[in-house]
Amino acid sequence: MADASQAVARPQTKYLKDYRAPDYTIDRVDLLFQLEEGVTHVTSRLQMRRQSGGVDTPLVLDGSHMKLLSVELDGGQLSADDYEVGEETLTITGLPEEFELTIRNDIDPSANTALEGLYISKGMYCTQCEAEGFRRITYFLDRSDVMATYRVRIEADREKYPVLLSNGNEVDHGLLGEGRHFVVWDDPFPKPCYLFALVAGDLAYLEDHYTTKSGEKVTLRLFVAPQDLDKCRHAMDSLKKSMKWDEDVYGLEYDLDIFNIVAVSHFNMGAMENKSLNIFNTKCVLANPQTATDADFAAVEAVVAHEYFHNWTGNRVTCRDWFQLSLKEGLTVFRDQEFSADMGSRAVKRIEDVRMLRQYQFAEDSGPMAHPVRPDNYIEINNFYTVTVYEKGAEVIRMYHTLLGPENYRKGIDLYFERHDGQAVTCDDFLSAMQDASGVDLGQFSLWYSQAGTPEVTVESRYDAENELFELTLSQTVPDTPGQTGKKPMHIPVAVGLVGPDGADLPLQLEGENAPHDVDGTRVLDLKEASQTFRFVNVAEQPVPSVLRGFSAPVKLSTGLNEDQFLFLLAHDSDSFNRWEAAQTLSANIILGLVDDLAAQRAMELDPKFINAIGKVLDDDTLDNAFKAEILSLPSEAVLGQMRTPVDVDGIHAAREFVRGQLAHALENDFRALYSLCEDRGAYEFTPEAVGNRRLRNMALGYLMELGDDEVCKLAIKQFMNADNMTNEIAALSTLVNSDCAARDGALQTFYDKWRHEPLVLDKWFSVQATSRRADTLDVVRHLRRHPDFDIRTPNRVRSLVSAFCALNPVNFHDKSGSGYNFLGDILEELDPINPQISAGLVRPLTRWKMYDADRQQLMKKVLMRILSFKDLSPDVYEIVSKSLQ
Ligand code: TRP
Ligand code: ZN
Repeated sequence: MADASQAVARPQTKYLKDYRAPDYTIDRVDLLFQLEEGVTHVTSRLQMRRQSGGVDTPLVLDGSHMKLLSVELDGGQLSADDYEVGEETLTITGLPEEFELTIRNDIDPSANTALEGLYISKGMYCTQCEAEGFRRITYFLDRSDVMATYRVRIEADREKYPVLLSNGNEVDHGLLGEGRHFVVWDDPFPKPCYLFALVAGDLAYLEDHYTTKSGEKVTLRLFVAPQDLDKCRHAMDSLKKSMKWDEDVYGLEYDLDIFNIVAVSHFNMGAMENKSLNIFNTKCVLANPQTATDADFAAVEAVVAHEYFHNWTGNRVTCRDWFQLSLKEGLTVFRDQEFSADMGSRAVKRIEDVRMLRQYQFAEDSGPMAHPVRPDNYIEINNFYTVTVYEKGAEVIRMYHTLLGPENYRKGIDLYFERHDGQAVTCDDFLSAMQDASGVDLGQFSLWYSQAGTPEVTVESRYDAENELFELTLSQTVPDTPGQTGKKPMHIPVAVGLVGPDGADLPLQLEGENAPHDVDGTRVLDLKEASQTFRFVNVAEQPVPSVLRGFSAPVKLSTGLNEDQFLFLLAHDSDSFNRWEAAQTLSANIILGLVDDLAAQRAMELDPKFINAIGKVLDDDTLDNAFKAEILSLPSEAVLGQMRTPVDVDGIHAAREFVRGQLAHALENDFRALYSLCEDRGAYEFTPEAVGNRRLRNMALGYLMELGDDEVCKLAIKQFMNADNMTNEIAALSTLVNSDCAARDGALQTFYDKWRHEPLVLDKWFSVQATSRRADTLDVVRHLRRHPDFDIRTPNRVRSLVSAFCALNPVNFHDKSGSGYNFLGDILEELDPINPQISAGLVRPLTRWKMYDADRQQLMKKVLMRILSFKDLSPDVYEIVSKSLQ
């Protein structure tokens, strides 16, 4: 029974099973925005229609954070008795079947610190409506299965806001009295309101053009603050490449005459795919060689592509409801991953994506917030823009591609658009299109959408020399996750090769087949049972199995191989992913072994076979530098921590540092040689070769710095001072910041003085300090929180300091005193009332308390309890914290 005396209403959980089509819908929207100092007047005229029920079926509109001024029905003013204003709703009854509703309301963008709805960022107006931000602009059916066409008129001061943008085409503009002007935009494509956007500001732009393969000329504009015009070229080039790639690979063309991108410095996430008016976090769009690293260049290229690709996968075909979020996000991430693979190095891209999946998504999947790719319940949808929905969702799409093959996959995509263009649909609709187009039964495969948790696959093998038979037994289990137990076996594509003693792949012929069936030595096995044995015949010599090539499914694999077999795969596997994987497994096993040595107070010693193998990789001329750099990147402390609980925070850190130091000593000459060999020559280029060179060279510098030698410090300083690009500059600075070199503090000061007026570069200055492994880091971070350039209202700055420390610096965040946890608690107390979405992102490291030792568990839980007791705690943070304590 509801208790009226209970002051705090517990936020409501929403369930997928409760989905109902809306009783009313909106066909056409006319919006007027009058932007004035301190207030924005909104007038919304809606052409509406009843779809189910009768006259007494109430219309319930969503709305909050606004002042309602008036409601008109078919031109007649309604009195306050004709409708009911709730906390977050406006309810009207007695409506005809078709009608026009006109709502007037005021909002105050300058008071909007949550950065959802209409808000102000550095003097410009902008919007963020996904997922449920439109309801902060005006009363509306704020759900993605209500699709309407929009006409938008914006009025504002002409001098302060010369640029006025919305979705679609500009159809009118002109002057008004008192220094004001107006622009009218019309978007012919029906869309859900989460794709609505508005921008007003004093912006400069870079313009370019693209001609589609059917010959339509599209104007491309990238709007930025005038001082950022020198950082637009790369994003513009990335956009043109994306448009071409989508035509070539998916046959999809752009569908309007204009495509705009706007860069905004206050933004909760990376970017937003609003129809023809993408809005970007400056971090994901601005880049030039002086201010952005190679990783930033890659991220800009990927995010520009991602948002552009949403025009088809998200906008033309959208989601029926937010449980279906992965319908557009998983698919679009897979598309941007493949685009990046085609633009750069495919092998390296796959390694990077899998590294990220393991570090973040596997952690989520084994923690208190574990949820399926298609969640079945949530309190706050903003909390479900997760690595599971995005990255695991992308792995699910990749598995369709693997199981069906490229041609059937493309047929499935074509059928999906043929059936659903202009609709709001579900993940099941996508699966049906894939199934119907290919004829492949995907019934069991659909479990990837509904079962949470990372499947664990075990490999056992047996070689029968006499009968030339090789048996591979694959077994799977899916772990329990909160609210889900007793799971069914999944349909898992397992790409396999058998590597012969000479290092070459053997032909793959299964028992019962009369010839080998493989593509370049690899074939995909369909693992569908809890345990299944595959018998390969005509295997003349004992091979080493290379299983899950290319990481063909998002699972945890136990290969059953020994150290020598991993060394063999590291040296020979034709699949570069599994070559890298062999090195990762070897290093992880070595580091965890050393952790045990430390715990037992045994002396640590690094296996010479491992050093030797790494040395060989470095000397191998057939490998490219980017790949060598991947081999040299040891598994992170976070990934090592997932392998054994309770996490030995300090042991892992010490053992991993020890391995780095030993490699540095043993391979010093190789590192020195690489450092000179890979020097940048000529102007900065963002090509796979140049990126690989810088990566390996900076990796070599990092290892050399482990020698703790003065002369290497000088090398780092020299690189820092002479660098003509941010990649080399920040690499040198970050290794210096980790060290005790005398020049360390001076370098930090130099960097600050040089870059204090470039916010994105200053973010890096905060981050390198927050991620330092030095023991004084928390003190430094506390100090930086009081720095005049720290602003808690700017998400990028908060992330550059707080996330960097709490999520990327395990040894310091998890200091056994608990001071790192308390620091995060203090930040959240201040930030939650300002920006719940960012707060809910920051709190996540605390929620994994179950992985730690009893003392740390207590300290972490204490801070979680304290957060729960905050007055007016947001539903966002409430959901994450309360679920972690269950
Ligand atoms: N749809 C966006 C994307 O993946 C992400 C997004 C969702 C977003 N909600 C947001 C971005 C809120 C910024 C703010 O591209
Ligand atoms: Zn997206």
